[in-house]
Formats: sequence, C-alpha cells, structure tokens
Amino acid sequence: MSLVQVRNLFKTYEGRPILERVNLDVEEGEFISIVGASGCGKSTFLRLLLAEELPSRGEIIVDDAPPAVEPSPQRGVVFQRYSVFPHMSVRDNLVAAEAFATPFGRLPRAKRAAARERAMATLERIGLAHMADAFPAALSGGMQQRLAIGQALTAKPRILLLDEPFGALDPGTRISMHEFLSELRAETPMTVFMVSHDLEEAFKLGDRVIVFDKTRWDPTDPTAFGATITYDFDARDGGIPFQRIKEETHVLRPH
Ligand SMILES: Nc1ncnc2c1ncn2[C@@H]1O[C@H](COP(=O)(O)OP(=O)(O)O)[C@@H](O)[C@H]1O
Ligand SMILES: [Mg+2]
Repeated sequence: MSLVQVRNLFKTYEGRPILERVNLDVEEGEFISIVGASGCGKSTFLRLLLAEELPSRGEIIVDDAPPAVEPSPQRGVVFQRYSVFPHMSVRDNLVAAEAFATPFGRLPRAKRAAARERAMATLERIGLAHMADAFPAALSGGMQQRLAIGQALTAKPRILLLDEPFGALDPGTRISMHEFLSELRAETPMTVFMVSHDLEEAFKLGDRVIVFDKTRWDPTDPTAFGATITYDFDARDGGIPFQRIKEETHVLRPH
C-alpha cells in the first residue's frame, strides 16, 4: 500500500475550482517534485497534504489511516520565506521547533537540557554548530534556509513538504543546498514533496516530477476549471531528457 494516496481530490475556493480530480500514489521514501504555472494550486496541494486545508471532495490517505483532519508533527514543512524566529539564537530556534511539535506547544523544564543537546546535534548535521549562539540576522541566506530545514526536521517528519525552498538563493548556494538535501535523504528515510519553478532542480532532486496544469480551459472564463496532474515523469537515474513535450490534450488556449 502506498504511503500517500490521493483519491479524486477537488479543492474549491469560494466556488472557484482550483484543483480537480487529482489522483496520486506515493511510496514511502519517494521524492516528488511538483511543477506548474504560477497560481495553478501547487501550494494549495501542499496545504492539503499538510491537512492545513481540507479537500472539497475526495480524500488524502496517509499510511492507510483515515484522512487527517489536522496538521501533525509527522509532516514537516519549509517555505521559501524563512520561518526562523529573528529574536532567538540559532540553537533556540531548533529548541522552539521541538517545543512546537509537542502536543502542548512547550517543553517542560526538565526536558529542555536534552532538547538543547538534540538541537546541537541537528546543528552539526546542518553545518551550523559554529553559529549556535548567533542570531538569524547574522546568517547568510543559505544558512537561514538550512536552519529552516533543520526546524522542519526537528520533529522527524515522515513527510517533508518544501514549497519553493531554494527560490530566493543565489545559484551557488542553491547547488550546495541540493547537496545538503541529498545527504539528508541518504541519512534519513523521508518522503519529500517539493514545489519548484526550476525544471532542472525538479529533475535533479526528484524521483518523480509531476506537473499540474489545466486540461480544460474556457477562454471566456479562465477560472472555470481547476488544475490536475497532467504528467508524472520518472526522474530516477538522471531522469529523462526534458525537452518541452508537445501537448496532445484538448486544451483551448487563447494565444
Ligand atoms: N485561502 C485561499 N482563499 C481563496 N483563494 C485562495 C486561497 N489560497 C489560494 N487561493 C487561490 O488559489 C489559487 C492557487 O493558489 P496557490 O496554491 O498558491 O498556487 P501556486 O502555489 O501554484 O502558485 C490562486 O488563484 C490563489 O489565489
Ligand atoms: Mg505557491
């Protein structure tokens, strides 16, 4: 049985269809890259996976359990904009992330020393141990993004959700973040969903690259239909060459 099963998922906002008839099976440990035009519902799809939003129709089943009704620490999430707390040291940012992952949102006093030790171990892993006492403002963009990923990993999520995580980084830093993410994956079995607007990145990191697009389009009413998964590429072993494939769908696009 697949870890994540998306069954006939629809999402509508204020009567406007955003996603329609989305079906997807993801195996534990797979890295799924998600690409698609801006505004087509990629972030919405991640929020549905996170159970921050509920489907309008259909369901998402994780680990064969009934559809989740609320976010859980089983799912870590990283956004493009850094989620770090500016007024806390680098180490305390990780301790806070651990506290938030507890049912009460805080750590009892007796557990704080151990949490600080775990935070240091995570900092070693993300290459920020030497910055433990610094504040985020003193970190480079790549370091802040590593810290944000460290926060997401603190709860040891089975599913890591990355929403254009490296979009704000310069090309060199981005490549070192790719290596970092690949190393993490080799160490920790995780299922990853990553939205990216960079096709090369999507194919480089992903086992599969899925494309969200509209298959129906009404020129007189552009919001009449939602997007669905139109392609599901196998990107393992270096992936396939990804020249633009001519669409054979019956899409009416005004040009
Ligand atoms: N909470 C919301 N309420 C109403 N509309 C929303 C909400 N969230 C997203 N949308 C709309 O849904 C569409 C898809 O948004 P989003 O998932 O952010 O797209 P993407 O991440 O692919 O750029 C957009 O038209 C956006 O305006
Ligand atoms: Mg988005």
